[in-house]
Amino acid sequence: MKMDNENIVEIKNLKKSFDNGKIKALNGINLQIKKGEFVSIIGPSGSGKSTLLNMLGALDKADDGFISVAGYDLSGKRLNEFRSRKIGFIFQLHNLIPNLSVVENVEIPMYGTHMPGGEMRDRAIVLLEYVGLSNKINRKPTELSGGERQRVAIARALANKPDIILADEPTGSLDSKTGAMVLERLKELHEKSEVTLIMVTHDMNVASMADRTIKVLDGQIQT
Ligand SMILES: Nc1ncnc2c1ncn2[C@@H]1O[C@H](COP(=O)(O)OP(=O)(O)OP(=O)(O)O)[C@@H](O)[C@H]1O
Ligand SMILES: [Mg+2]
Repeated sequence: MKMDNENIVEIKNLKKSFDNGKIKALNGINLQIKKGEFVSIIGPSGSGKSTLLNMLGALDKADDGFISVAGYDLSGKRLNEFRSRKIGFIFQLHNLIPNLSVVENVEIPMYGTHMPGGEMRDRAIVLLEYVGLSNKINRKPTELSGGERQRVAIARALANKPDIILADEPTGSLDSKTGAMVLERLKELHEKSEVTLIMVTHDMNVASMADRTIKVLDGQIQT
């Protein structure tokens, strides 16, 4: 693990509610994560883990508090730039586009860059080889198993060489063998590069692989 003292995530008293304030999904989160750290996030269903991850990826805005990730103040502007350059997101439900092929799904994050089409395709194929899916590149997501879809989602998350990978239960729906492969890929990535890995999981064995585990309960971090 390469790690320096720079915080890539700074969160102060972050709040997010739904239903006109009735549901306090995040209720004053304070969190710092160092560049290169592998952090797992655990906590019961409904405790706010996915909401927190969405905030980290600038997929949703907080109501109150401060959040900065990779030098971007996420209450500010340039969030499209932030999302496309800094973040690779592996969703709880893998969110592949059903009418695009596997390789086209992996290319999506590269559309916003200035990469030529042929280069995008080559990179997508290399990434699909990396996750063991070179024989499925022209399939549609509906023709794949759950584990294969999750591996496509990993390839897609890596497409832009992100600084931070946000993974929401990347192994939740997988059998133990496929889950282990997915984890192995993520861990390898974290160990070989500077990438910061933030992973929500219900699996304590998975959580224990991380440098640090954060517990979320009722929208707050347990210390
Ligand atoms: N878009 C939304 N609208 C209304 N309520 C929401 C929304 N998103 C999340 N919530 C609520 O906010 C709370 C936190 O949800 P969140 O998805 O962050 O939980 P979680 O910890 O990821 O749970 P799980 O382990 O089941 O995935 C829950 O009470 C949930 O019902
Ligand atoms: Mg969730």
